Amino acid sequence: DWVMHDHVAEAVEAIRQQVGDEEVILGLSGGVDSSVAAALIHRAIGDQLTCVFVDHGLLRLNEGDMVMEMFAGKLHAKVIRVDASELFLSRLAGVSDPEQKRKIIGGLFVDVFKAEAAKLKAGGNGHKGATFLAQGTIYPDVIESGGAKSKKAVTIKSHHNVGGLPEQLGLKLLEPLRDLFKDEVRELGLALGLPHDMVYRHPFPGPGLGVRILGEVKKEYADLLRRADAIFIEELRSTVEPNSGKTWYELTSQAFAVFLPVKSVGVMGDGRTYDYVVALRAVQTSDFMTADWAELPYSLLKKVSSRIINEVRGINRVVYDVSSKPPATIEWE
Ligand code: XMP
Repeated sequence: DWVMHDHVAEAVEAIRQQVGDEEVILGLSGGVDSSVAAALIHRAIGDQLTCVFVDHGLLRLNEGDMVMEMFAGKLHAKVIRVDASELFLSRLAGVSDPEQKRKIIGGLFVDVFKAEAAKLKAGGNGHKGATFLAQGTIYPDVIESGGAKSKKAVTIKSHHNVGGLPEQLGLKLLEPLRDLFKDEVRELGLALGLPHDMVYRHPFPGPGLGVRILGEVKKEYADLLRRADAIFIEELRSTVEPNSGKTWYELTSQAFAVFLPVKSVGVMGDGRTYDYVVALRAVQTSDFMTADWAELPYSLLKKVSSRIINEVRGINRVVYDVSSKPPATIEWE
């Protein structure tokens, strides 16, 4: 709508004023906030922006390629993709405690990002070096970091919108979404031409599949989980609930598959299988502090289950999580 287009013009002008002819670095995660911030800043200053996309190898199926296709491909933004999956997997080997995994992933993420940002700050090759760090901080983040924080909230914030990072890097902070609520960020994203599916994505935790593979993270597990999760999401997106006319993806706040490193017996053809289990999780919530498990239709669960078991060799059992929060949490770790 015109109000949002006005807002785009205003925000673009403000960024140009603040940045002048200097250069900006932004950590792109593929999530809504950093994507909208990237699109907005790119609209304002084009090639003065360089996005750094750290791929920790714990993203969903094809997610890294999709981020590159959108930002480097369609928007022609400068994006550096750092493939750090081997590094993350090697540091996670043998670690099964959830908070320990979070610390490792969050810490490595910051290290890898900082190393890349330091190079961009140094400049060279005809570049005078970046002076700004942009972050997709939105208004609720601003409020949250002022008030009391739960232990987990601290972890969440320390992962992507890293406190203190600009100071550590000696960069000025650029936060163009600081005054916006989530709904406004989404509208802004649409006004900037980002696809509906990207702007209305369910949230995805910073540690990614690292906390959706219970216990020790292994590449084999991540590969199986990615495929199972993609089937679940595909079916949620394509199944319409007739009364509302909405898809089950739209009717749920967050949905995903969880990998259980447990083997159970099954039968396929004439043979016996002894393979892993995947749990499906889908919740409805307005604030993610409390959540109800979603009453997905049996026909949908049936289809997802049979597709996963038939298409993902290595998984022979699918279960549905019927726990609400509290006392369960949304994620399994
Ligand atoms: P829980 O599992 O605590 O999740 O009910 C509530 C919301 O927070 C997300 N979540 C995280 N996000 N880093 C993040 O960026 C994390 O470590 C993390 N842990 C949970 C979760 O996906 C849900 O939306």
